[in-house]
Amino acid sequence: MPFGIDKLHLVDETPLQYLPEISKLLDIELYIKRDDMTPWGAGGNKLRKLEYLIKDALDKGATTILTIGGAQTNHGRLTAAVATKYGMKCIIAAIDDYPGEVSANILLDRIMGAEVVLKQSDGRSESIQFDELCAEIIKGREAKGEIVYYIPMGGSNALGALGYYDAAIELARQAKEKGLEEARVISAVGSMGTYLGLLLGLKNEGAHLSLTGIAISPFGETKEKRIVEYLSEVITQFNINTALNREDMDIEKGYTRGAYNNPDYKVREAIYLMARKEAILLDPCYTGKAFAGLIDMIKEGKIKKGENIIFIHTGGLPGLYTKHHRVEFENELLDGVKVML
Ligand SMILES: Cc1ncc(COP(=O)(O)O)c(C=O)c1O
Repeated sequence: MPFGIDKLHLVDETPLQYLPEISKLLDIELYIKRDDMTPWGAGGNKLRKLEYLIKDALDKGATTILTIGGAQTNHGRLTAAVATKYGMKCIIAAIDDYPGEVSANILLDRIMGAEVVLKQSDGRSESIQFDELCAEIIKGREAKGEIVYYIPMGGSNALGALGYYDAAIELARQAKEKGLEEARVISAVGSMGTYLGLLLGLKNEGAHLSLTGIAISPFGETKEKRIVEYLSEVITQFNINTALNREDMDIEKGYTRGAYNNPDYKVREAIYLMARKEAILLDPCYTGKAFAGLIDMIKEGKIKKGENIIFIHTGGLPGLYTKHHRVEFENELLDGVKVML
């Protein structure tokens, strides 16, 4: 437990596995850290952040958790899981259209009893619309006597990042046990808490692992500004003695495929490869996109032959079932479905 901050115990050590078939095929030594195998609400990276965030909410006497994201947010689903497990209500708010069906994460949110609030965008900045929507929800719930605890998008605040600080310590130890002192860790980058937590943990604890993030959505000026602010928030809040700055971050911005959560053939190819060679399921929004980026990095010589790579599987499986991805999969896969009369 770093910095003496208390947390819930939701996640046991997740496996670090060697992937022999893909290693052979790609001419690297590929390992995978199975954070998709975390135990609640269908698993994923956010449970590590929620160990800290939900503990804080309970300490503050919260009765309702409010969080935000896209309509199909994995973070929302896992927040719903932990909130319900600890007897709290959960509201997931999105500035997004209704996708036309209660499926994938929205289905799981509802099964776990969370409320989903979808507000169509009015074209103004998303953060302004979120601020207004959340203020309205909080006001309404407080009027009914609820104590609302707000968790930002992706659970990515200073407290949430500690979940991946812990994961970095766990991973460095596991890598050492496998004789892997020199290796590059690769992770998808969304709201940045996973990446920053890992980076701080690896550097501050003196691990001999480097870290490359692969952005899964366009990483422009706003994100550039945010990541520097975010680093400074974590360092200040926990009084971390480090000289880390933006130059120490290695974030690949060239594999976003143009937009957040967009269907992309190369991503589906990467998903098929992982599934058919190693029986591991990636998702189209985060891990499939990051793995497609990893493959491109090998082709471009950014990852060297024989290099030890640890790919973090951050979860996201329900994303395979979202309507706009499912139709693409169906087009490509229906030919292998034989209907016999
Ligand atoms: C499956 C999955 N992988 C990766 C990420 C990215 O993590 P972060 O938002 O901490 O950058 C997310 C975020 O929602 C996710 O759901």
